[in-house]
Amino acid sequence: MIEYKNLVEKINNCTNCCLGYKRTKAVPGEGSFSSDIFLTGEAPGYYEDQSGKPFVGRAGQLLDKLLESINLSRKDVYITNLLKCRPPNNRDPLPDEINACGDYLKEQLEMISPKLIVTLGRYPLTRFLPNRTLANSRGRLMKYKNIPLFSVYHPAAGLRNGNIMAILKNDFTKIPEIMERLNVAKNKDIQTDSQLNLF
Ligand code: URA
Repeated sequence: MIEYKNLVEKINNCTNCCLGYKRTKAVPGEGSFSSDIFLTGEAPGYYEDQSGKPFVGRAGQLLDKLLESINLSRKDVYITNLLKCRPPNNRDPLPDEINACGDYLKEQLEMISPKLIVTLGRYPLTRFLPNRTLANSRGRLMKYKNIPLFSVYHPAAGLRNGNIMAILKNDFTKIPEIMERLNVAKNKDIQTDSQLNLF
């Protein structure tokens, strides 16, 4: 397996798609490598592109608060995005861009080997589980391959809409319960919500 610093270097020098020619800084991801929780958003925005760090703008400040609300900080989790470079004007990621970055996400996942993936918004959810939609699966525990996956709204959506904010906050409160369930099912063979007929 490639070493983390080599992966970061590859991402920082990547020109697999045209976004690599337009970025200020690539945003590989950050956090604890021994973390049980792997969060992935969509793509860097303006502040992330400037700083090279994920989720440092307004959505990131909300993410910090959501983590704090369940007694976690950035140091306790690993945070990345589907895309490692900012799309112009923060437009939605294109399928080719998501594919061009796909191996990086896969390698990060292999390195961190988390107990839980938390997808922030629609794009990361459908990257892992193409047949799902936020409408039919947010707030639910599912699985990607054998890794439990929990899907929530993107924090930026929470900033735009008070109802979504309330749902997002409530969904975050489920994360400690899920970790508890996972720790009980130590072999990671946790039952998903659909196996438990919860949806
Ligand atoms: N939105 C994302 O999806 N990722 C970031 O890093 C910042 C905003």
